[in-house]
Amino acid sequence: MVNSMKKELRRAVIAGNWKMNKNRAEARALLEELVPMVKDADCGVIVCVPFTDLETALEALKGTNVAVGAQNCHWEASGAFTGEISAGMLAEMGVEYVIIGHSERRQYFGETDETVNRRVRAALDAGLKVILCVGETLAQREQGITGEVVGLQTKVALQGVSAGELKRIIIAYEPVWAIGTGRTATSAQACEVNHLIREVAAGLYSEEAAAALTIQYGGSMNAKNAEELLNEEDIDGGLIGGASLKAPDFTAIVKAASR
Ligand code: PGA
Repeated sequence: MVNSMKKELRRAVIAGNWKMNKNRAEARALLEELVPMVKDADCGVIVCVPFTDLETALEALKGTNVAVGAQNCHWEASGAFTGEISAGMLAEMGVEYVIIGHSERRQYFGETDETVNRRVRAALDAGLKVILCVGETLAQREQGITGEVVGLQTKVALQGVSAGELKRIIIAYEPVWAIGTGRTATSAQACEVNHLIREVAAGLYSEEAAAALTIQYGGSMNAKNAEELLNEEDIDGGLIGGASLKAPDFTAIVKAASR
């Protein structure tokens, strides 16, 4: 049994996932509004923006406490992969994080556990930090196989990742049925799966490594429900979609994570 009662050892991280929203002018405006609001945050703050906003975000966030992330990367370093962006290209720009395995990539773009693993590997090799997304569909939850699905996704994604490299990984548990639906997992449901992920990590690495792993919850987290979710022992922050597009909402979640 992993001792998760070490929440205070883990840094909470709130990451915004803008998805396919905001052109450059809109991105700049949102970030200029956000920066002063979150400057005293006592948690990690990241914004994962569309590729076309990366340069703008890097410029607007230079010297601030807000880190920049992308939303995907390819597993090859370069080559004939029309429309793709490599991890090395992101790292060279100064991007620090990349989301990998988001359920929208799995659902709409044919992402599999194996390609997630290859992308994770490439991101780590390029020196990036990874926000690795896992989560079950509603059908899987109703079949009672949430644990198996999320456990398998986690294990495959982390294949070939060393204990040292695990320190550059954040796992985001995002039940697919809760994403963008307004239907949040209860804090108990979310905590249960987050704990299970921690146990999987303990099995793969060590209890110590698992206790230090930041495991976020994502799926309709907002200014109203953030505090309750973030109070749970095994929830170390959030991956925020819709609510990250409004500075006051995102800030309220950052404040809830700053304790
Ligand atoms: P949501 O999205 O907060 O809009 O539900 C979360 C995510 O997909 O990362």
